Amino acid sequence: MAAVLCGLGAWLPPRVLANEEIAARLDTSDEWIRSRTGIAERRVADPGTSTVDMAVAAGRQALDSAGLTEVDAVVLATATPDQVCPASAPQVAARLGLGEVNAVDVNAVCSGFLYALATASGFIAGGIARRVLVIGADTFTTLVDPDDRGTVPIFGDGAGAVVLRAGDADELGALGPFALHSDGGLAELLMVPAGGAKQRRSDNPHDYFLDMHGQAVFRQAGTRMAEASRSVLEQAGWTVGDVDRFIGHQANIRILQTTAKYLGLPQDALVVNIERTGNTSAASIPLAMADAQRDGTLLAGQRVLLSAFGAGLTWGATLLRWPALANV
Ligand code: COA
Repeated sequence: MAAVLCGLGAWLPPRVLANEEIAARLDTSDEWIRSRTGIAERRVADPGTSTVDMAVAAGRQALDSAGLTEVDAVVLATATPDQVCPASAPQVAARLGLGEVNAVDVNAVCSGFLYALATASGFIAGGIARRVLVIGADTFTTLVDPDDRGTVPIFGDGAGAVVLRAGDADELGALGPFALHSDGGLAELLMVPAGGAKQRRSDNPHDYFLDMHGQAVFRQAGTRMAEASRSVLEQAGWTVGDVDRFIGHQANIRILQTTAKYLGLPQDALVVNIERTGNTSAASIPLAMADAQRDGTLLAGQRVLLSAFGAGLTWGATLLRWPALANV
């Protein structure tokens, strides 16, 4: 039994934060941000809009696209749930009117969407669910220190979602194999030190924000995404030359370009929307999927490789042949 992608949705908050606005407040420039990251602008959720709100909007669109009003499970990838406890997925399911379904959060930060796809595929393979709504949603700007020029330009908010249904491995949209990995020994490369069980309170307000070692993260990201990508290609019996589109986590355009170089993949196979979104963490891959579906970059039958890397550290990859999708 395979998990088949059959619906897609996305939602971005309306407020645009352009590089110039950041440069007016912090010691940086539009030129620096564009050339070092590929980002021109990102979206920021206003204080009245939460991760659950964004997840509901993207989830509703994915259900419409799949032509469904019911699913058996909701898997929400997020590192920014509305509350520390409980998980946000049950609130998303309730707001979508999905009844008392199986609903769970998955936290693998920027790799979260891939881990959520794998979790949902497991539900389907195990006969636990036949249709699963998988959402990646993050309000990452709430974790960014407003005074830190190293992270403010990088992150944005948003949500993206897909629907998976039980089907056959040879159908368009069938997901897998997966490669999923972690290295908790490097957790401190990207961490919010305070607010969790280990350090509940801190007198230093910066401890409640993301502490990022950008260069070390950069070095890991390309290598790890290329490794995981090679693993799934080999398991599937595909060569790099078979890949029509590479949808990588949108962290930095240079990381995507480096990963393509390591893999020997042509740069024009890269799906890139980071210029307008920044790094939206777990939302990044489904947001890139939705943009590429809408502008015709993704076509039914194309062979698509997905890969992500994030805090934890976590990373992974999977692949599929792109399905025909409606109402995206
Ligand atoms: N504007 C201007 N200068 C900046 C700056 C900014 N926004 N941010 C950092 N700098 C400065 C640094 O202070 C440093 O100055 P110095 O040489 O005087 O010390 C210089 O630019 C170079 O810094 P460096 O960190 O080497 O830059 P970089 O080319 O590695 O780019 C990142 C920085 C953050 C863009 C890059 O490391 C990156 O993208 N890392 C991965 C981050 C990421 O993807 N995180 C999420 C993973 S899911």
